[in-house]
Amino acid sequence: MALVTSKEMFRKAYEGGYAIGAFNVNNMEIIQGITEAAKEEQAPLILQVSSGARKYANHTYLMKLIEAAIIETDLPICVHLDHGDTFELCKSCIDGGFTSVMIDGSHLSFEENIALTKRVVEYAHDHGVVVEGELGRLAGVEDEIKVSHEDSSYTDPEQVQEFVNSTGVDSLAIAIGTSHGAYKFKPGTQPRLRFDILEEVERRLPGFPIVLHGASSVVPEFVKMINENGGAMPDAIGVPEYMLRRAASMAVCKINIDSDLRLAMTGTIRKYLAENPSHFDPRQYLKPARQAIKEMVRHKLIDVLGCNGRA
Ligand code: G3H
Ligand code: 13P
Ligand code: ZN
Repeated sequence: MALVTSKEMFRKAYEGGYAIGAFNVNNMEIIQGITEAAKEEQAPLILQVSSGARKYANHTYLMKLIEAAIIETDLPICVHLDHGDTFELCKSCIDGGFTSVMIDGSHLSFEENIALTKRVVEYAHDHGVVVEGELGRLAGVEDEIKVSHEDSSYTDPEQVQEFVNSTGVDSLAIAIGTSHGAYKFKPGTQPRLRFDILEEVERRLPGFPIVLHGASSVVPEFVKMINENGGAMPDAIGVPEYMLRRAASMAVCKINIDSDLRLAMTGTIRKYLAENPSHFDPRQYLKPARQAIKEMVRHKLIDVLGCNGRA
């Protein structure tokens, strides 16, 4: 199996009423945990790399690790740039072998977002690469840029057809109330997503794949593990899993998960080191962390995304 684009994955996911998991990767153990679960569950996968991940781990290292995962799993895997913010970054990832890029012009005016996205689409399509665009703005932290809840904005369904037709994007990320990071909803309030916006987007773009960012559930077990072992995370609230299942049964074909991987890894390592204070071999604490990622991802593939057995 080789690297693939997300085109076929999304077509099947839309028809089948499930979603593909897009997991952020930063190092070998994270890639191994995710891909081992996907192999056992025979799930198609998107592994996504942010510009921060690329700075941290280096483009070539990440590509070679993903190539190794393809050899080990024999799965269709798409390598995607998460939140590309410039044409140059997208071009560099396309030239470097990514099969999908996101150009995130959601902070720009509608016209500027269209112009930038269109430029990336032209270059990407000439090279057999697919493009995700974004309309609407999520709150939260990504690549050290913090967007407050006041500065975030829901996607306006009236703009989606013009955006997709003028740019030629292959998928569209929309803002319906999710946000990046571990603090998505105010403690004490009921998490709420604007499914009415998703329905309206679906009506205006029939058959077109929609992407949901900020979709970690902020698994309470891992937050507890962190806080019981020396951590001090305030009340962290994620997107309830039943809402993600509902989105996956609708036009949402790609669901982005990063924070849950971070929490699984950090919680497990904190617990291990608290229980084994004299240990200092990184393999001893990275092994259970990788295993925790694997089991968490398996749960998402089966119970949240519904993409198991679809590879
Ligand atoms: O949406 C953002 C992702 O969680 C990536 O985060 O930019 O810190 O790598 P990062
Ligand atoms: P979470 O922070 O909810 O995991 O979202 C990740 C994401 O949207 C990556 O683009
Ligand atoms: Zn995102």
